[in-house]
Amino acid sequence: MKKTEILALLKEHRPDFVSGEEICKKMGVSRTAVWKHIQALREEGYLIDAAPRTGYRLVKIPDRLYGQEIADGLNTEFLGRTVYYYDCIDSTNREARALASGGAPHGTLVVAEEQTGGKGRQGKGWFSPRGMGIWCSLVLRPGIAPAEASPVTLLTAVAVASAVEKTAGVSPGIKWPNDILVDGRKLCGILTEMSAEMERINFLVVGAGINVNIPPESFPAEVRDIATSLRAAKGGEVSRAALLRQYLREYEHYYRVWLDVGFKPVLEEWKKRSVTLNRPVRVSTSRESWEGWAEDVDLSGSLILRLPDGTRQRFTAGEVTLRPGDNGPGTGD
Ligand code: BTN
Repeated sequence: MKKTEILALLKEHRPDFVSGEEICKKMGVSRTAVWKHIQALREEGYLIDAAPRTGYRLVKIPDRLYGQEIADGLNTEFLGRTVYYYDCIDSTNREARALASGGAPHGTLVVAEEQTGGKGRQGKGWFSPRGMGIWCSLVLRPGIAPAEASPVTLLTAVAVASAVEKTAGVSPGIKWPNDILVDGRKLCGILTEMSAEMERINFLVVGAGINVNIPPESFPAEVRDIATSLRAAKGGEVSRAALLRQYLREYEHYYRVWLDVGFKPVLEEWKKRSVTLNRPVRVSTSRESWEGWAEDVDLSGSLILRLPDGTRQRFTAGEVTLRPGDNGPGTGD
């Protein structure tokens, strides 16, 4: 698209001017067309100076998760190569499912500035205010059986955690299976959905909600004490586009390791960041609640709990409570 190419040219020359003539020549378009594209970019929020006989100069890139910003320097092979960007949508997971059912390719990214019906686990909602977080979903089509898919939720947590470490210099912990915590508060939630036959996965939709630049006082009262944002943890704004790009790079890396080598190296990364293992916890499933010692997570991503009578119980799903008395106030959920 000419508009994206003009933007790339302006970025390349930043902070200098590029003459209108050079843009026309390189793009093979008229001066009027160039002007129209510049206007369109300005409407998207790009600050572009225009000076007579000198040309155009890119002054500021807007804090938006446009496909062209995600693509800029991304260098992944399949993740985020197709991007669906929405200013406002009900839920990126719902949209990604619809797109995947319609044939969206492996690696498709669906991202929105704001969600009006963000979905959390267990039928809860997900606070997704405009421009302050990364609300995104990935469409994945691994050629595996549904029973082999559970590691993907742990893998997603590792990808988020390492992207946060590299981009923001904050080291989060992971609560089994895939809650990302900073100082005991939730920074990111992950919702994995699957469409499958008995033997084969049609597609997975992996949604991640990362609280990036949300001021602590903006969280709704019901989550204010248990949620946090990178801005709160770091004491400054973090570039959402840079964080999202890094998440896609980390994701592609760990996804390849999982399918090419196996889950072990990914699980090791997960364990390094685990705040669940080697402590007393409560695991609640939809039917009952168990207390015991979180002994291990196995290669299928299941949590192994040692019960007070010495026997072991294996969980493939459930909600973990880090037992408050053990870890001081405010660290449980
Ligand atoms: C949780 O309850 O911990 C999971 C929260 C998942 C929220 C993300 S935001 C992007 C994607 N779209 C949704 O509707 N939900 C997920």
